[in-house]
Amino acid sequence: MSRNLDLQARRDAAFARGLGNQLPVYVERARNAELWDVDGRRYIDFGSGIAVLNTGHLHPTVQAAVAKQLEAFSHTCLMVTPYAAAVELAEALNALAPGPNPKKTIFVTTGAEAVENTIKIARAHTGRAGVIAFGGGFHGRTFMAMALTGKVAPYKAGFGPFPAEVYHAPFPIAYHGVSVQDSLAALEQVFKYDIEPARVAAIIVEPVLGEGGFYVAPPEFLRSLRAICDAHGIVLIVDEIQTGFARTGRMFAIEHAGIEPDLMTMAKSLAGGFPLAAVVGKAHIMDAPLPGGLGGTYAGSPIACAAALAVLAVIEQEQLCARATAMGTQMVAALREAQKTLPAIGEVRNLGAMVAIELVRNGDPHQPDAELTKSLVRHVAGKGLVLLSCGLYGNVIRFLAPLTASPQIVDEGLAIVVESLRELTGADVQQSVSA
Ligand SMILES: Cc1ncc(COP(=O)(O)O)c(C=O)c1O
Repeated sequence: MSRNLDLQARRDAAFARGLGNQLPVYVERARNAELWDVDGRRYIDFGSGIAVLNTGHLHPTVQAAVAKQLEAFSHTCLMVTPYAAAVELAEALNALAPGPNPKKTIFVTTGAEAVENTIKIARAHTGRAGVIAFGGGFHGRTFMAMALTGKVAPYKAGFGPFPAEVYHAPFPIAYHGVSVQDSLAALEQVFKYDIEPARVAAIIVEPVLGEGGFYVAPPEFLRSLRAICDAHGIVLIVDEIQTGFARTGRMFAIEHAGIEPDLMTMAKSLAGGFPLAAVVGKAHIMDAPLPGGLGGTYAGSPIACAAALAVLAVIEQEQLCARATAMGTQMVAALREAQKTLPAIGEVRNLGAMVAIELVRNGDPHQPDAELTKSLVRHVAGKGLVLLSCGLYGNVIRFLAPLTASPQIVDEGLAIVVESLRELTGADVQQSVSA
């Protein structure tokens, strides 16, 4: 029996089934955009551990910074006896967050915790309870984050009741026939049917839906949300957990819309594989909770802070924003070319290197092909590629290669995807050829 299969059998016996598992691939080592499993097989990694490795596996600069920190100390608790790396990182994030207003930061450990804390801060600041989020959005697996998440199965099913006063409006998705105007009209309806704006503490939005399917929020939609929040004293929270740190060609995706959020969440690629998350926002809002109301034992771990400072240096030194834009262009060109002969690819879309294809039947956006999507993820793994799916209907392939990946390795990975789609949809190709 292969070591992968042996470990998979032990995994299935040892872990609760609620902990999902995409592939029976047990990693032995990883570098930049490649990993090797315990049976010695090599994989190209187009998943980056779900958007965590914009700087690649074990970037030497990140590795060296962590090794240096480990020589000094590993934990003291930021709330007890702090350290310079955390202060430097908070200063750097405050400076990087878009907009002219002075910023402040808190550190926590996971993305969901960052989301939870934005709601605490927004409620403390406004003295209001309500929160509006969007259909298809994903904000994490803790209770408030689940309540905000706009996808029932598997994230919310069986886990209710959720915190009250959370409402959802549809996210604008042109491909599915939901325009910006439709979304804004639905938001007005929430104000009419469910809660008056004067009781809404916050609106939370992902600038590009991550788990929900890589749908890009049009800039005018985000600007309208900014105007609505300004008009009613509502805190605008932008969840940059998946979109941040150069992924979309800017440090933060919200920069494409040219607006200043009140609060932002950050996690994932912030610390290059070490658990760290942050809330960064306008200083007077961030200061609303009382001392001691925010924090956590591991929040702002010195190891993670050292890693994050190195990540920020790498993003700048290696111009990862520009590389993300170039990678997006390369991927979209190849995928659009493939789309000409692969009718299963309903849409190719991207913001920088946040690239996706949506797989449908009969060229119809309303006939999602989740089975093909699942098969594709398995099939490409057999050819040495780690690929992630997502989407409200489970029919989107998301491309999240490290931004440090070479164009050659990106091409190699894309070729596997296209070849696999041809193999899996041979009948469709035949049909389209003979039609
Ligand atoms: C946009 C967004 N928000 C929040 C989260 C939750 O982050 P975590 O899994 O670190 O709790 C995720 C994770 O995928 C995410 O993509």
